[in-house]
Amino acid sequence: MRILVTGKNGQLGRSIQKTVNTDTKIGNNQNPNDFIFVGREELDLSSESSIGHYFKNNKFDIIINCAAYTQVDKAEQEDELANQINHLAVKQLASIASNQRARLIHISTDYVFDGESDKPYIETDTPNPINVYGRTKLAGEKALQKVMPLNALIIRTSWVYSEYGNNFVKTMLKLGKERDELSVINDQMGSPTYAADLADVILEIIRHNKFRDEGQTTQIYNYSNEGEICWHEFAKEIFKLAEIDCKVSPITTQQYPTPAKRPRNTIMKKDKIVKVFNIKISNWKSSLNTCMTLLKKQQ
Ligand SMILES: NC(=O)c1ccc[n+]([C@@H]2O[C@H](COP(=O)([O-])OP(=O)(O)OC[C@H]3O[C@@H](n4cnc5c(N)ncnc54)[C@H](OP(=O)(O)O)[C@@H]3O)[C@@H](O)[C@H]2O)c1
Repeated sequence: MRILVTGKNGQLGRSIQKTVNTDTKIGNNQNPNDFIFVGREELDLSSESSIGHYFKNNKFDIIINCAAYTQVDKAEQEDELANQINHLAVKQLASIASNQRARLIHISTDYVFDGESDKPYIETDTPNPINVYGRTKLAGEKALQKVMPLNALIIRTSWVYSEYGNNFVKTMLKLGKERDELSVINDQMGSPTYAADLADVILEIIRHNKFRDEGQTTQIYNYSNEGEICWHEFAKEIFKLAEIDCKVSPITTQQYPTPAKRPRNTIMKKDKIVKVFNIKISNWKSSLNTCMTLLKKQQ
């Protein structure tokens, strides 16, 4: 087995690396040596020729694409670059995976939705992204499905955090220590995702017959931790666990304008991934606790 993981320096890429290197139960014909992790130095997704060149000499059984242009606000200015990485590169990866007869796992986002639904989103709900990042990620999903109608899988996730990189949890911890009071948005609803949990799920999926059997129709799956919250509640729990005495005041999206619009409510149903791959999903509070315990040890 040769399994390629892109985005090795990102939150999810690093979480997969950590699990692969520490979990002895990767199992079923796999061992840590099966995995090859690459960053933009080895495989630059902003360059069509870099992608072509890399795969000329490298063949894989499974490609897990964790790399993406993820700067939601900056994407409003850098729409061409975001489109290249989140759309055109995904299309190219799908074409290469198809030629190599490799399986492809691609990560997408809740931001493909406009957030106007009052019900949790299911995989077949009509996307309608309201910012450049969401539009480029949706274009990537669509291109992948067209080029690779079989043998691929798209996981839509949301509000990803981890011990690594920049994320809401780490930003709150930093600001909470610097300030006595913070204002955090309370009218955007969603579900946090601990990257280590998503990494575990991806590794479970690649062991599963349902994924390994050739000729499976390409599918979309939603995945996040369980629980539905707003950013304000998320911040309060972070401070509670970290024992940081910082007052968190609720504010509305309108009071906190950003270059990119954010969807109001992107809660997603996860029944499909649970049923098909027989996975258990932990609650956001217990996963946050796990991450914060690790962050504390790093201090
Ligand atoms: N973060 C979230 O809240 C969130 C929410 C929903 C969905 N997602 C999706 O989940 C997936 C994983 O996200 P994440 O949080 O792990 O993202 P991340 O921490 O921002 O990591 C993304 C990685 O992509 C790499 N990358 C960017 N441009 C590249 C290029 N031109 N060539 C090669 N690599 C490039 C980055 O490399 P450098 O380290 O060199 O910059 C980085 O390591 C992505 O598909 C994202 O769209 C994330």
